[in-house]
Amino acid sequence: MILVTGGAGFIGSNFVLDWLAQSDEPVLILDALTYAGNVHNLRSLEGDNRYVFVHGNIGDAALVADLLSRHRPRAIVNFAAESHVDRSIHGPEDFIQTNILGTFRLLEVARAYWNELQDKAAFRFVHVSTDEVFGTLGSEDPAFHEETRYQPNSPYSASKAASDHLVRAYHHTYGLPTLTTNCSNNYGPFHFPEKLIPLVIHNALRGQQLPLYGDGQQIRDWLYVKDHCSALRRILDAGQAGETYNIGGANERTNLDVVTTLCDILDEFSPRADSKSYRDQIAFVKDRPGHDRRYAIDARKIETDLGWRPAETFESGIRKTVRWYLDNSEWVQNVTSGGYRIWLEKQYA
Ligand code: NAD
Ligand code: DAU
Repeated sequence: MILVTGGAGFIGSNFVLDWLAQSDEPVLILDALTYAGNVHNLRSLEGDNRYVFVHGNIGDAALVADLLSRHRPRAIVNFAAESHVDRSIHGPEDFIQTNILGTFRLLEVARAYWNELQDKAAFRFVHVSTDEVFGTLGSEDPAFHEETRYQPNSPYSASKAASDHLVRAYHHTYGLPTLTTNCSNNYGPFHFPEKLIPLVIHNALRGQQLPLYGDGQQIRDWLYVKDHCSALRRILDAGQAGETYNIGGANERTNLDVVTTLCDILDEFSPRADSKSYRDQIAFVKDRPGHDRRYAIDARKIETDLGWRPAETFESGIRKTVRWYLDNSEWVQNVTSGGYRIWLEKQYA
């Protein structure tokens, strides 16, 4: 069995679904079900006895210790986090609580459990982190590699950087077999529509504006979520304890490029009633404070050492993603009620 924290969120739920599609090894999911966690993401597993869902917090040491001693997982994959940069700017507190203190408590409990294991070397603690810890790049700078200096610029990325440092220290000091991954921007099914790609699809279909921060020329390096999941499975299988791995698909795009691509696909799949392009809905709005200009991942280490390669290009992944949102309007409706509306009013006022 493996323990997956944050397994009801965007990447965590994709990871669990892909895992059980390829393996019979059971999964224990621990998720606090914040606004970003949604048990409906796991609905296709209903009745499947290979998974156990526990509603709880990674910072609840007594709960996590009890789960570890009862279920005896061979690995922990830690997705649980507050993940949205804009929310971290409005209110950093939750990010400190979960990303720093929560990871610390999880590490402490994992260390105590691991200390009692017979086969210590076989255990794995995989910490899922982000490329945002490296800060921002200029247009001519080389892509982030594993040795790039940490220079986080938002409360979100600073909290993730702190958690990465704790994970590193638990390996260095105590020998806990940890691995840290730093991945670029994901997109795909179950992506919460506060993030650029699902927000644009959602707003476009409702005739609302498609907000681009600043000049829209910021660059992100996009990876289809299932490729991130395959990289994590590979790292769990063959990664070296104590190492960090960058994950990315070499798909740098400006935000304007991403949004116009989405408009063009929507024009094809679900044309507007007035036959005009969704591009007409694009609106340039106030920039994000401290907005990082460019991210790019150098993924040569995971490619060379572990033989991992992404299966999707941006062109194939983005079409699959738009199709998924069109086919899953009920899911979108569920997650965009209530608190979501309050957030939108605050953010885009
Ligand atoms: P998400 O916000 O969609 O999901 C986070 C999940 O964690 C939710 O299900 C939430 O309920 C749960 N959670 C939050 N706080 C918790 C706590 N204290 N205890 C237990 N569960 C808790 O995030 P995501 O986009 O799926 O990201 C998952 C991880 O991957 C994060 O650590 C994030 O930093 C990292 N990451 C994300 C991206 C991306 O593009 N989305 C890229 C690289 C790395
Ligand atoms: O790089 C990995 C990171 O990618 C992850 O660690 C984060 O968890 C994840 O949220 C994502 O962070 P970003 O800030 O890059 O993602 P977001 O979708 O919020 O924004 C993508 C880009 O689009 C960014 O440059 C800001 C811009 N943007 C975003 C929104 C929501 C807009 O121009 N308009 C918007 O309305």
